[in-house]
Amino acid sequence: MAMGPGDKDSDRFLQERRSLVRWLKERGYLSSDAVANAVLKVPREEFVPRAYRDHSYAETPLPIPGANATISCVHTYCLYYEALELSPGERFLEIGLGSGYGAALARELVGADGSVVSVELDEETFQFGKDNLERTGYGDVVAVLDDGSGGHRDLAPYDKIAVTAACPGEPTEMLSQLSHPGKIVYPAGGDAYQYLMLTELDEKGEKSSRCLTTVVYVPLRGRHGKRP
Ligand SMILES: C[S@@+](CC[C@H](N)C(=O)[O-])C[C@H]1O[C@@H](n2cnc3c(N)ncnc32)[C@H](O)[C@@H]1O
Repeated sequence: MAMGPGDKDSDRFLQERRSLVRWLKERGYLSSDAVANAVLKVPREEFVPRAYRDHSYAETPLPIPGANATISCVHTYCLYYEALELSPGERFLEIGLGSGYGAALARELVGADGSVVSVELDEETFQFGKDNLERTGYGDVVAVLDDGSGGHRDLAPYDKIAVTAACPGEPTEMLSQLSHPGKIVYPAGGDAYQYLMLTELDEKGEKSSRCLTTVVYVPLRGRHGKRP
């Protein structure tokens, strides 16, 4: 019998998660055990709206509640987190809580001694992401409803920052909230596609940047964003 939406059970999702991890390794998106284990552990289907749940492990962004929000493909989280090298005990800031899936992965990576702060601008999306985190045992992620286009100065500094919406250029406000050393990954560029940039600050605060790849993200809104 063909499966309709919502027919898959948790064993089936676990099989799909395992085969996706194999695929991500074969294609070079996953290189560390830490990120692979986080992807294996977090039940992505719990962060996807009911109507799309059976497609949770398809490599495509899926719509989530709110204006213009999506849960990104799994490989893009790997691009961010492999480059950031998130480690136990670190303070991590995510801009764009969305579904909460990226924050849950980060929570696994920084462990009990680390902290995850995630900022979301859209109220409906915020509630969706926060509910997902609480339901799945990641209620200790600090979810903030605010304009994160300038980072989140109240809880700075952060060891690592991920911006999961397209920036108009280098997010200088957020760079000033990084510790030394520190790392930030952000997409920057036009609307059709963006360059996924990794910028690092060394112990003295000296900056270096490189492009990881090209990506397509929804625009960062707000005061320092691409849209009001
Ligand atoms: C691609 S989605 C993020 C996906 C998310 N990280 C996840 O794991 O599901 C981009 C998110 O950025 C949010 N966003 C856009 N501008 C923002 C801003 N200035 N501050 C905070 N969030 C913002 C959007 O509302 C949207 O939810």
